[in-house]
Order: sequence, then C-alpha cells, then structure tokens
Amino acid sequence: MNAPIKLLALALILTGCGTKPETISSPDGNLEVTFELTDQGQPSYSAKYKGKDIVLPSLMGFDLKDAPSLTDNFRQTGIERSSFNETWVPVWGENDSIVNNYTQMTVSLEQGKRKMDIEFRAFDDGFGFRYIFPEQPTKTFTVTDELTQMAMAGDHMAWWIPGDYDTQEYEYTKSRLSEIRSHADDNFMPNASQYRFSPTGVQTALMLRTNDSLYLNLHEAALVDFPAMHLDLNDSTLTFKAALTPGPDGTMATFSTPFKTPWRTVTVGEKATDILASNLTLNLNDPCALDDTSWIHPTKYMGVWWEMITGVSSWSYTNAENFDLATFDYSKANPHGRHGANNENVRRYIDFAADNGFDQLLVEGWNIGWEDWFGKEKDFVFDFVTPYPDFDIKALNDYAHSKGIKLMMHHETSSAVDNYDRHMDGAYDLMNRYGYDAVKSGYVGNIIPKGEHHYSQKQVNHYLNAVKKAADKHIMVNAHEAVRPTGLCRTYPNLVGNESAMGQEFGDMSPQHCTILPFTRLKGGPMDFTPGIFRMKITDFAPGGQGSQKRATIPNQLALYVTMYSPLQMAADMPEHYKAHYDAFQFIKDVPVDWSKSIYLDAEPGEFIVAARKDKNSDEWYVGGVTDENARQYTLHYNFLTPGKTYEATIYADAPDADGFTNPEAYTISKHIVSTESQDTIDMARGGGFAISIKPAEKD
Ligand code: NOJ
Ligand code: CA
Repeated sequence: MNAPIKLLALALILTGCGTKPETISSPDGNLEVTFELTDQGQPSYSAKYKGKDIVLPSLMGFDLKDAPSLTDNFRQTGIERSSFNETWVPVWGENDSIVNNYTQMTVSLEQGKRKMDIEFRAFDDGFGFRYIFPEQPTKTFTVTDELTQMAMAGDHMAWWIPGDYDTQEYEYTKSRLSEIRSHADDNFMPNASQYRFSPTGVQTALMLRTNDSLYLNLHEAALVDFPAMHLDLNDSTLTFKAALTPGPDGTMATFSTPFKTPWRTVTVGEKATDILASNLTLNLNDPCALDDTSWIHPTKYMGVWWEMITGVSSWSYTNAENFDLATFDYSKANPHGRHGANNENVRRYIDFAADNGFDQLLVEGWNIGWEDWFGKEKDFVFDFVTPYPDFDIKALNDYAHSKGIKLMMHHETSSAVDNYDRHMDGAYDLMNRYGYDAVKSGYVGNIIPKGEHHYSQKQVNHYLNAVKKAADKHIMVNAHEAVRPTGLCRTYPNLVGNESAMGQEFGDMSPQHCTILPFTRLKGGPMDFTPGIFRMKITDFAPGGQGSQKRATIPNQLALYVTMYSPLQMAADMPEHYKAHYDAFQFIKDVPVDWSKSIYLDAEPGEFIVAARKDKNSDEWYVGGVTDENARQYTLHYNFLTPGKTYEATIYADAPDADGFTNPEAYTISKHIVSTESQDTIDMARGGGFAISIKPAEKD
C-alpha cells in the first residue's frame, strides 16, 4: 500500500466510515448473511436465501440511559470466522439427536472507548445474531431502547398475536403485514393482565409467508437476563423494530459487562414443514447446564382441574370474603361444599389415573388462599405449603405412590412474585418431603410489585431462577403465564413445559388455533396445551359454568398429542368423560411423550398439520392430523415405516357425520395391517382430525 492510501484507510477506520460488506454462508451455501457498517458507521445486516432477499438492510444498536446511543460512529476493529458441527442428544425431545451445524462470524466494533461485538450464526434453516459487550471501561449499560430492525422484503402474509407486555393469551390473526393495523382488534380478548403497546406491535415467534412462498419465522433464542422482545412494525416501510418490555422506570434492561444479549432469529424454509422441523431455537441455546438429568422424565398426567376450569367445582374451600389469610381460621370456616381438591375426589382421580397408566395427577386448589386471590392484587395470598383441611397431603401422596403414580404440585402465585420468591425454598422443600417432582406454576393477574410487566427483565430473571432452584431440588417446572419460551429447555431440561399462549382452557377458541401454535409458540419450547377434551358441550355438564362449546372433534383432540409436541402431556378431561368414550381413550393411554424421530408430513399454518413420530422406547409410530374450520381429506403414505415390516394401524377418525361445531363426539375406530407401501385416505370434519397408532404386527 502506498502512503496516501494507507493514510486514507487509517482515516476510514478511525472515523468509523463504512466498511466492505462481510458475508457468511450457511453450511449448504443457500443462506447468506451480510454485515456492514454504513457511511455513518451504523451497524447493518441483511440476509438472502437462494439469492432471494429475506431481510433487507436493517440497522442495529441501542439507545442508552445517560449515555450516547450505540447506533453510529462505530469502527470495525476485527472479524472472526469459524464453523461448527455437532450432534447433541436432548434429555427429551422430538428426536433422539439434533444436528447443530453453522458458520459463524463475529464482528468487533468500537465507538470511542465503548466496545460492542455482533455475532452471527448461519444455519441451513435460518440465522441468528446477538450483541456481545466485552469487558470494557464502561461497567454497566442501561438500555432505554433496542433499535434492531428486521426489514421485510415484501408485504408478507403473517400469523400474529398483538404485542403485549403481559399476556400471550390471544387467538391469531392472519393478515398481510400492511393490514396489521387495521386488524389490530380482530381477536381482542380481555385478560387479567394486559398491556398492548402499539397497534402494529406483534409477538414472536411470528410466522410469515412471502409472495414467492418462502416461509419465515422471526423469534428470539436464549432469553436470559433481558426483557422479552416484541416486534413493532413500521407499516410504511414494512420494517420491524425490536420492542423490548420495559421495567417500572421505563428503561428496558440494565446489565454489566461482559454480557451477551439473547439471539434475534430468522428461520427460513421452502415448505411450511421446514419451519416445524427446525431446531434453530434450541441450537442457539447453551448445552445442558445440569450434571445429573436422570431424575427428569417425560410425563403424562391427569388433573383435578378441568372440573374447576369448567365450573363444576371450585379451587376455594369457602365463600369467605375480605379476610386476612394470616388470621383466617379454616377449621372454623363454613365450607361451600364444592371444593374439588378434597380427599375423596382426589383418590377417585388417583385410582383412574393409576389404572390407566398415567405418571402423575395434578391437583389444583389444594392449598389455602383461593378465597382471596383473583383480581385482588395482594402481595401475600398464598404460602404454598398449607393444605386446606380436606386435603390430607401426606395420606394422598402416600396413596398415589402406593399406586405407582405421583401427585403434581400446583403453585398459583397470583403474580405476587416477591411473595413467591420469599416462599420458594419452603415450597420446594415441601415438595421434596412428600415426593412431588413436578410443579405447575402460574402468574395470573398484574405483577406485584406494581409497574412490572410479565415479560420485563426482572420477571424473565424470576422465571429462570425458579427453574434453576427447582433443578437443585430435582423438580420439573411447567409455568403458566410466564414469558414465552426461547429454547432454554435445552440448557435446563427440567423446564418441561410452559403455557404462554392461549391454551385449551379458553373454551371456544377457533379450530385454526391448533394449526398455528406449532408454527409460533411451540418454536420456543413445549406447551402445556392440555389436549384430550372428550365432552365438548361444556354447559351440558357444567350448567352456568365457564365456556360454552369446544369446536373440535374427539379425533382432533387425540391428534394434538402428536401435532403439538411436549414431553409433558395432560389428559385434560374428567374420568367420567373418558369412561364414556373408553375405546377412543385408548389412544391417549398408548401415545408416548418422548420420541426418537419426528416427521412433519404436510402442513400449512392456519389450515392443517400432519405429523408422524416414532416412540423413543419401542418400534411404534403415531400419526396425528388436525384441520381448521374446513373439512379436508388427507392421503397418508406410510413410507416412513421400516421397509419389510408390517404393522397394525389403529385409526381414530371423524365419523362421516362428525362436525367440530355440531357433532363433535362422532368418531370411528378401525384397524388394519400396513407396511411402507400402504396408504390411507382419511376425511377430517371441520374442526376435526385423525390419530393413528401403528404397532409392529409381529415380533421380529
Ligand atoms: C391459569 C392457568 O393457566 C390455569 O391452568 C390454572 O388452572 C389457573 N390459572 C389457576 O391457577
Ligand atoms: Ca393461562
């Protein structure tokens, strides 16, 4: 280099002027991610799949409290490239091994004395990037806004729920990006805690389809010590901007260096099923942090629960009002007689669950305080250790254990988070004492202390802390109303479930809901959706109770055990409803909750999903198909079976006159021998589906 050019190069570096684009390609070469600094020294990235734009040049960076923004005047001080290829074995999962293969590029940036690196990983099925703040003179950063953009290359079709700092319990709306604003209220549903921040705000995982039929999914991975990210759309430019969940003082996050943010991710596929099969979120999380995972186990459970949800019985023991839990004397109280978690009823459920091969029985409403929780916004309602007088915690656990099952603990926190933190050790110790190894927790209502939102940095830390503490005590966690998952179950596999979306307990959701959740909510981790409702007209058995009519057939409900992957699956209905359709209940008894192989055979978001999975512990296969509000026919090819072997397929299908809306409990069960060349054409009613168990026909 001659002297003037050398000088010019030096000047460019020092003033933070634009750099030449740096690109990485996915291992198969189809996906390209490019980073560059603009002429103003602004970090910017873009991405292409097979030459098609999937993210147009998008700016990156942060606004900070009491400090200049980390948005421009950067200079690039280094770049490192590497590649990685491993196959890891999940403790539980859709597959018994997962390939994690990517190329990586880490760009080091400096703005004055402040340092910020950006790390990109390109996979065959998408990419992620995160910000890394190395150790540096600035010890602490307080973020007031994340400015990361995701500029879309067209007016894509989107399946979205409104951006909300406190709830994900919404039905999905399908619209073009440009129509989000005009459809903002289409599926509005009031919630006990709710804060929508923008008419163009949406939640991740966001499912998109481009005009040239690429499927995209925008999400985040490894959400640790940071607020959850929503996306807010500029509908003139079709550019999303990160929208973090604020804390009570309006700032988003405070962290000390060194620090890594969560990953911002884009999954891409040519088929909708590519998105369903992608492991990108899991792969962007750290490997398992627990030395011993032998105590973690997939779990099929029933619950003293649906009867409360539908209003047949109650969580509470009395009708007392306005009392102080600390002084209220339950032994002198007047029970209202509708308490679900009573000794006799719990034993009845234990008998049924044990007789039918379940692992656990959830009992809600076992502990004092339910008279005083909903909407009260009190700091201290539950102590998580004191049973109601009619729930003999020792005797019932002993009885369950004698029958080979465990009880499952329930901690409704009523979002009094500090109260839960104060009681957590004692609550977990009680579980250890009586032999519980799984807890369903919940966060209904506004977070107390006031001003916090469900997805703020403090709350995100609380949920993970509850999981880590539980791991120390060998307890599995299934948290409802907590932040939506981002693949942390890879690192902490005792996080066996979350709700974090609209689940079955919302009585009359539209049938399309279950054809969207696997593309959205489930991309972060398993959902405790609670399938298996058999008695669809709720007012028939719970007069005056909650919910009206489920819009789903029984085969649809069976199929959900296959289409909605979770290592924790509930048979949500009550024993008497299963007894009434005991032949169909056989599928729930049979279906595994851990798999060696999963194949998404065909799908379209909002329309239908068909999946096949092989049991981890046998040669059995299970197939599930669900449809939306349209009846549809599906021809299933059994070509996933082992060639040369024969199997007996038991098909649970909608009866010819079945209808998810008007005749939901009409089904047929048929059996026949199948092999890899076989095919079956199956009719699904609207709101319907089918489920098939496929067992080796003869011993090899
Ligand atoms: C909301 C949960 O999602 C539900 O399953 C639970 O029964 C209630 N909270 C009461 O804790
Ligand atoms: Ca809920």
